[in-house]
Amino acid sequence: MATIDASFASTKPARGADWLSRAATFCYLTIAAGQLLFVAFILLFYYPATLSGDFAAWNSKPLIMGFVAGDTAGNLFFAVHVLMAALITFGGLVQLVPAIRSRWPVLHRWNGRLYLVSALTLALGGLWMTWGRGTWLTLTGGIGITLDALLILGFAAMAWRSARARRFVEHRRWAIRLFVVASAVWFMRVGYMVWGIATGGAGIGKAMDGPFDIFLAFANSLLPLAVAELYLRAGAHGTMAAKKGVAALLTVSGVIILAGSAGAWMVMWGPYI
Ligand code: HEM
Repeated sequence: MATIDASFASTKPARGADWLSRAATFCYLTIAAGQLLFVAFILLFYYPATLSGDFAAWNSKPLIMGFVAGDTAGNLFFAVHVLMAALITFGGLVQLVPAIRSRWPVLHRWNGRLYLVSALTLALGGLWMTWGRGTWLTLTGGIGITLDALLILGFAAMAWRSARARRFVEHRRWAIRLFVVASAVWFMRVGYMVWGIATGGAGIGKAMDGPFDIFLAFANSLLPLAVAELYLRAGAHGTMAAKKGVAALLTVSGVIILAGSAGAWMVMWGPYI
């Protein structure tokens, strides 16, 4: 998760920094692969149904509350949510490529604005769908995703403010944190898959109310955020050993992400397109 930004490494990397930079690039690439599969699913499953007005087709996939006849507001919120979901996921990946940032700063700025608008729309719209429309299975799940929405709103504000003030070192940190929490719903899907593959689904309740469900309701944002924080700290002032340790963590995370993304494609996304 952390990853994300190969440009973190300083311009004259010492050996530990070199490891960290390579591991970050690897981890970013695994995230990109997994998120591109998610984008492909959204574009191939949700876009045709939504843009043609055939909202009822959403329900061919198991959802808590997709299309509900007569619920115009709820259906429109859901429609906007899935349309923006592809934009934010693809936009976030583009935003973190160092070459794009340095070669096409105008693209970086406009994509950044679009990313922030998508983040606000998804977080506020998602909060309304959760508590206004009542789309939740367990209270813990509802609270977990609410925490994520609040983190998205807070980090988006910090990333925006630091960019406006041209404090770019700070901006990069907030942007990475924002990317991580805006990816939490994707981390959750990858997390379920990888846990399912590894344990056969231990601790997953029938109503998504088992110990693992409770753990993942919060870990989907907080665990990747912790890894991102370690990455930022190691990159900024870590010892050689810390840099190597975090590089190993990022490499393992990347392998886990690859397995979880492949599982998500096979179970959650591929069969519906
Ligand atoms: C910011 C990144 C987000 C992305 C990319 C995203 C993506 C999606 C997608 C693709 C769906 C359709 C369900 C599926 O096929 O899996 C969905 C549904 C939903 N999302 Fe989000 N979402 C995001 C954030 C949020 C947030 C922050 C909340 C709540 C605060 C939220 C609440 C919901 C709800 C309630 C549903 C309906 C679930 C159902 O009926 O089964 N989302 N989201």
